[in-house]
Parts: sequence; structure tokens; C-alpha cells
Amino acid sequence: MARAALTVLLAGLTTSAIAAPHDSTRTTPSIGYIDVSVATLWTNPSKPRAIDAPALQNPAQIQQWLDSMTTAEYLDLTDSDRTQTQALYGTQVHILNSTDDWYEIAVPDQLTPKNALGYPGWVAAVQVSFNEGYGKLQASKPFAQVESAATVPLYHDPWLRNPIMNISYGTRLPVLSTNPNSRCSIQVSLTSCKTAYLPSNSAKIYNSPSSIPHPTGADLVRSGTLFLSRAYLWGGTSGYAFDCAGFTGTLYRAHGITIARDSGAQATYTGHGVSVEKEALEMRDLLFYATNVSDAASIHHVAMYAGQGEMLEAYGAGVPVRRTGVRFGGEFWGAERVLV
Ligand SMILES: *[C@@H]1O[C@H](CO)[C@@H](O)[C@H](O)[C@H]1NC(C)=O
Ligand SMILES: *[C@@H]1O[C@H](CO)[C@@H](O)[C@H](O)[C@H]1NC(C)=O
Ligand SMILES: *[C@@H]1O[C@H](CO)[C@@H](O)[C@H](O)[C@H]1NC(C)=O
Repeated sequence: MARAALTVLLAGLTTSAIAAPHDSTRTTPSIGYIDVSVATLWTNPSKPRAIDAPALQNPAQIQQWLDSMTTAEYLDLTDSDRTQTQALYGTQVHILNSTDDWYEIAVPDQLTPKNALGYPGWVAAVQVSFNEGYGKLQASKPFAQVESAATVPLYHDPWLRNPIMNISYGTRLPVLSTNPNSRCSIQVSLTSCKTAYLPSNSAKIYNSPSSIPHPTGADLVRSGTLFLSRAYLWGGTSGYAFDCAGFTGTLYRAHGITIARDSGAQATYTGHGVSVEKEALEMRDLLFYATNVSDAASIHHVAMYAGQGEMLEAYGAGVPVRRTGVRFGGEFWGAERVLV
């Protein structure tokens, strides 16, 4: 709709005048920052449907989008290969390509054999910002990582009265200061470099990803239970809704361990897992499912062992994130323990 309006607006101008900045890779910086609570990456710009509009805006209306979809519409995201992954507010991304209204980006913390720069996909251009000042803050300041809930509110004021937006579990924002006048808020930077505030009890502060304490299995399982009953979303990596590997990958990343984005790649590409026998499973181990259990290339599902014969999983469209008995039959390919 924005594009049609722009075309009408510019219809009388010369060709050179309507060359939008996004058209030229020469004028697009190579690094950007996600400027919405959750940006959805699409297979290509033709993939979003009319009902996906809330996910394409700035601000993005993720909960509204999820609430509006029927199970058939959730399933169609998978069956029509529409969504690839998602990226959280403030994430630094590589710009790979562009059109008038879209950027193709790569998300660095989502490892994939598809692209050495990170997981690729197309996002609405309005969801990316290019503020180098924010990049400098990211590089020089500690970060606050959201850990207390699936989503938490971010505020304009240190008294936590005026909400800006809800941000996801795992979101990392540069810390400007822990508010000396109030023990209840952490002062963080928005992508605009404006100041915002997080409730102190919603986030933990780290100097770098490597200073996140190495988790126990129980830590990972406890974090996983924050998301029970959240929706399944093909491509989902935020606390709002997950796909299977988005769930396990987001949990591990929040605990300082970066694994691959897709289920098959979590088994074969990340490179630091060891096989675990059924009898030796511990909380945190990843359980893989394949259409052909002799062929890792056919892995299509991953879940996390939660102890006592149970696992946590984002199973599929229409099935909320759940704790359920481990399925050892049919499609069970094997289990791996991520050691790093
Ligand atoms: C950029 O994207 C356009 C549109 O999808 C495609 O035709 C073109 O080949 C891409 N360019 C590069 C360098 O990938
Ligand atoms: C944040 O989430 C809460 C409940 O989860 C909701 O009531 C509120 O409207 C949301 N705020 C924004 C700004 O979207
Ligand atoms: C399963 O994979 C193995 C190993 O790649 C292959 O030899 C076998 O033919 C496959 N089975 C089926 C039913 O495709």
C-alpha cells in the first residue's frame, strides 16, 4: 500500500528523481539494526499475504498478527514457504540486497550453511535502521538481556509508567546506566540512541556474550517453561511464538551458546554436539526427528529433553509450545548434547 502511494506521489517526476535510495546498493550501508520488537524475514518480498500486514509495519504488531491467524493460515506459512526466521529489536544485521521497500539481510547469531554471514531473508525496509551511533553503543557498552518472561515492556520513563513497546525474551540492548535514582529500572538505548528503561528484574546485564554464565540443564529447561502455551509460528524465534529450532536456538543463545538456526543444522552443522544414548539423556539435550532416520538430511524437528522422560517442544502449527513425553519411535533420529 505504501508503495502504491509512493508511485502515485512520484508519478510526475523524472526517472532520476525517483531512484529511491534503497535501489542502489552503493547508498545502502552494509550494516543495519532491527528497528521493531520482532522483524520477520520472508523467503522473498512476494511471500507476505494481506493478513501479514501487522508483521511488516514499524512498530510491528506481532501479538495482533498471531491473534488474527487461523490454524490454516499458520500452516500456510510452512506449506507455501513464506517465512524464514525472525530477528529481535536492536540486532545488528548484514544487508545483502535491496529493492524499493525491502532489504535482504543476514542475521549473524543464527548460524546456517546457507550463508556465512548469518541466516538470510527479506524484511520490510521500514523495520531496519542505520544509526551508526547505536552501533557504537553496542560495541562499547554492556548489554541488558531480557530473561524474565516471554515478552516484557520497555518504557519511556524510569518510573516505568509509559510503555513504548513489548520486547522479546533474548533481546539485548546497550546499557547506558543502572538508574541511580531508582533501583527498579535499567537505562538502555533505543536504536535511535534515545533513552528507554527496562524493569531491573526483567533483564540481566553482561559485558559480552561470553560473560553469560554457562548454564546447567535445569537452567535451560526452566527458561524453556517460560514459553509453554505460546503459539507455534513457522520461522518464529521470539518469545511471542516459535518454530521448533527457533525455540531451542533462542534458549541456547540467551544462555550464551550460539547454535544453528534450523533443526537439521543443529544436529550436523553447529559442530559441537556429541551423540547421547536414550538411556543417558540429561536436561538440555537436543532430540532430533527425521523422515528417514538413516539420513541426517531429512531431519525436520528438534525438541529439548526436560528430564523424567519428557521434552519441551514447539511442535507444529496449531499446537502451542508444550511439555510432552519423549517420542522414541518412528522418526526419532537421535539425541545430541551441546557442550561448548
Ligand atoms: C537481489 O535481489 C533481486 C530481487 O530478488 C535479484 O533479482 C537479484 O539477483 C539479487 N542480487 C543479488 C546480488 O543477489
Ligand atoms: C504489551 O503486552 C501486554 C500484555 O501482554 C498488553 O496488554 C499491552 O498492550 C502490550 N503493550 C504494547 C505497547 O503493545
Ligand atoms: C534412507 O537413507 C539412507 C542413507 O542415506 C538410504 O540409503 C536409504 O535409501 C534411505 N531410505 C529411504 C526409504 O529413502
